Amino acid sequence: MTDLKELFIKYYGESSEEIRFFTSPGRVNLIGEHVDYCGGLVFPAALTLSSVAAVRLNNSDVVNLRADDLDGLYSFNLNNTEAGKDLKWGNYQAGVIHWLKENGYKVRGMDFLFSGNIPFGSGLSSSAAIELTTAVAAASLSENFDEKGYDLINLALIGQKAEHTFSGVNCGIMDQFASAMGKKDNAILLDCSTLSYKHVPLNLGEYTLILANTCKKHALGASAYNKRREEVSEGLIRMNSILGTDKDNLCDFTEDDYLKAEALMAADKIRDRVKHVIYENQRVKKAVEVLENGDLLAFGEILREGHASLRDLYEVTGFELDTMFDVACQTEGCIGSRMTGGGFGGCTVNIVKKSAVENFIETVGNAYKSKTGITPAFYVCDIGDGAREIKM
Ligand code: GLA
Repeated sequence: MTDLKELFIKYYGESSEEIRFFTSPGRVNLIGEHVDYCGGLVFPAALTLSSVAAVRLNNSDVVNLRADDLDGLYSFNLNNTEAGKDLKWGNYQAGVIHWLKENGYKVRGMDFLFSGNIPFGSGLSSSAAIELTTAVAAASLSENFDEKGYDLINLALIGQKAEHTFSGVNCGIMDQFASAMGKKDNAILLDCSTLSYKHVPLNLGEYTLILANTCKKHALGASAYNKRREEVSEGLIRMNSILGTDKDNLCDFTEDDYLKAEALMAADKIRDRVKHVIYENQRVKKAVEVLENGDLLAFGEILREGHASLRDLYEVTGFELDTMFDVACQTEGCIGSRMTGGGFGGCTVNIVKKSAVENFIETVGNAYKSKTGITPAFYVCDIGDGAREIKM
């Protein structure tokens, strides 16, 4: 924080206004992938890897954005937040501020300096973390904060809207929710159709979570993510028409419903997508149940099934993620593995015996590198708190 403050003053100069610090974490999703936008259950946890911003009012109508790892100043006027869509960097922040204003916040001109340690493009929700950092900061510094305060779930919804409208990714609510509502040492069981949730203590006993970064960047915006959303919308129409139902979400169907409909559905990709979504949603229920009963072996097995379904039915893995998964599953001490996040690159999450961590990193690292030519990165996954102000 002291370094960030110094850099802030170097960039923006001295002022009588106070510099404040805000932070919001990235997330790992343990199970429940590509179901949030189908009204399903997800089970993410906030990381201690996070985005941080130093922020200060500047007594103007302009929001200035900088980052400690980027050259240049990115600015937009509060009276024309839409122009923020065209920023080379800063569109998430502009989107959040746009929607805060629409929500009645009297946002004031301010200077931001962002920092953080979430590897970008690694499937750990660096964008949601930036959105939520911006949201808590801009709301806290707004003219009518005393009257409005903030509700973290509302800020998560604002972050999601920013992503839809300012970056063109039609994402679900999981990432922003986890970043906003994370709790140290707990995962979050979230029902994305109602936003009801509970924190579940992550008691992993003699095991720990390791993130294995394929170091192949995903490109959500340009990728097949939005296409998957279209496919599952078509899947919902098919399921309703075959079963004569009128359900709002694909996750309202059970495995039995799917089995009834299966033979009557064309055996194509849409059917595979539907099957993944319905079964993945059930996997979340089972996974949380076995975890609460302390059956980590069963939990790990469900994670592996989840990966196979994302690979074979939902087709969002790819060579690097599948290689990382395969070598992890063959490595001693690893009882569960799967890709986490949107896919097409990014990280896997692995459940590894604490005593086997070093060997896991070395063995998986070497095997992955020899098969892909890419040097991967590993992080021991500590579960932290959600979006907040850091008091100095
Ligand atoms: C991305 C999206 C989330 C979710 C995951 C897949 O992270 O932002 O909303 O759909 O992919 O589970």
